[in-house]
Amino acid sequence: MTWKESLSTDVTSVDRQHQELMAAAQDFFTRIHDGLSRGEMVVGLDRLIDLVADHFDHEERVMRNIALPSLATHTHLHRGLLEEIREFREETAMGMNERSPADIEHFLNVWLYRHIVEEDLKIFQHLNRI
Ligand SMILES: [Fe+2]
Ligand SMILES: [Fe+2]
Repeated sequence: MTWKESLSTDVTSVDRQHQELMAAAQDFFTRIHDGLSRGEMVVGLDRLIDLVADHFDHEERVMRNIALPSLATHTHLHRGLLEEIREFREETAMGMNERSPADIEHFLNVWLYRHIVEEDLKIFQHLNRI
């Protein structure tokens, strides 16, 4: 999963963060495939969660500034995504999450990518009156 122009929200700071997030996820996947201990997995997930939480805060500020009509729903979806990944992190920490590297990669890819395509692109549509 890599960033491409069709994923642009037309907000430079948001796009930059999306690129950073995808690069961080990609880096994490490489490390998972190389083999990580449970502790290393948890540290990696924590880093990803911090990045994502900071990104959501920023994106919500941007959406408020441009008066995005779907702001409330979008913010709600961010909370849900954070809950989902925190749960995944907890399960991993407790050893209840015996998933293959490919499975983890798939879960996180869908988790990150789908939201950008389905929700974040509404920022572009709003700014460009589509
Ligand atoms: Fe978002
Ligand atoms: Fe986003």
